[in-house]
Amino acid sequence: SGYITYDDGYGNTGSCSSKITFIDGEKGILRYRGYPIEELAESSTFIEAAYLIIYGELPTRPQLSDFSTRVLTQARIDVGMNNLFEGFPNNSHPMAMLSAMLNTLGCYYPDLASNDRHQDLENFDQAASILLSKVRMLAAMSYRMKEGLPFVYPKPDMGYSQNFLHMMFSNPYDEFIPHDDVTKALDLIFLLHADHEQNCSTSTVRMVASGGANLFASVSAGVCALWGPSHGGANMAVVKMLSEIHADGDDGSRFIEAAKKGEARLMGFGHRVYKNFDPRAKILGEMCERVLKALGRKDPLLDIARHLQDKALSDEYFIKRKLYPNVDFYSGIILKAIGLPLDMFTVIFAIGRMPGWIANWKEIAESSSKIHRPRQIYMGPTKRPYVMMKDR
Ligand code: CMC
Repeated sequence: SGYITYDDGYGNTGSCSSKITFIDGEKGILRYRGYPIEELAESSTFIEAAYLIIYGELPTRPQLSDFSTRVLTQARIDVGMNNLFEGFPNNSHPMAMLSAMLNTLGCYYPDLASNDRHQDLENFDQAASILLSKVRMLAAMSYRMKEGLPFVYPKPDMGYSQNFLHMMFSNPYDEFIPHDDVTKALDLIFLLHADHEQNCSTSTVRMVASGGANLFASVSAGVCALWGPSHGGANMAVVKMLSEIHADGDDGSRFIEAAKKGEARLMGFGHRVYKNFDPRAKILGEMCERVLKALGRKDPLLDIARHLQDKALSDEYFIKRKLYPNVDFYSGIILKAIGLPLDMFTVIFAIGRMPGWIANWKEIAESSSKIHRPRQIYMGPTKRPYVMMKDR
């Protein structure tokens, strides 16, 4: 005691033990509960992966059907919450709304958000399905509220991701029918974001949970942590960057030079853990090509993205620092091609990450782990006598 090791950014500090997700950053390996991400991306769906992450095993057919039904039928939002939505200024960021609404949601379920660990765990199944369902509903509502459109509820014959597109874009007498590849791409984006061990937002969820706070409050904090451009906000930042490059009349070459001089950051590139490649980016890069083809969309920003990618991958600066495209580089491009508004991009990440936050909260709540309470290296003034007002 008395001797504290400082580890800037927790680069080498294990904050917990966990059985959920395994990452080997050197080898580019990511597994949920032991299953390789490539196999899950190929054969699974987001909702099945959510079950796996939360409960530890792949569901049987009846288990999956029961889980999907629970998620589907929990979409209803108490009308009291509409008043809260109306209280937000028109230009509010949907991440701010989402975090506030998720925390508020807990007030409607006092038995599930009691801050009594034993009781909250007893009601865990219900709380988990409520959150998976309502995060999608609240996300769509925040968009529709801004657009002045009525809310749309999910339909039993549509899967989780198709329903989200329906809830975002359908109108009475005008149902939005997405291209199959678009539904698949969105589902894949959700699945690839579903958990990622101790990233900034998941560690936040665990930190809040370690004090005994309920699941709703803990995931609400997770949304705030995700919001920043170095974390979940990167998918939005990628498209902003591409737009600025385009507005400058640059094809990406000048931007790369600026990044090399430290004057700009190539958003969607680099990762704290993956130092060879991001396996999620590999999967999503292929899907990106497929969606763009399916939509037949020509977009100058996509040409710039390709150019940036090719330039960076062959440039000494990026190679030496092991900077590769990360998952957000391609998710940003896909979400733009699908036509989702820019400020919803990080909300998409939050919907995807919900199973991971839920599973990590459960792991803490079930453990006997101590409250998380890191120490610091104090660098402020040494002891000094109080200075009276008249002498300052
Ligand atoms: N563009 C240009 N240079 C970069 C970039 C970049 N995107 N990322 C890192 N560098 C440089 C950095 O300037 C430093 O150079 P030097 O050694 O000469 O000072 C070196 O690479 C190491 O960077 P770092 O900041 O120490 O690395 P980190 O592990 O702290 O940061 C990161 C990781 C993801 C925050 C960072 O790479 C970054 O800001 N990337 C852009 C934002 C982004 O895409 N974030 C999404 C991450 S994936 C989704 C998620 O998990 O949330």
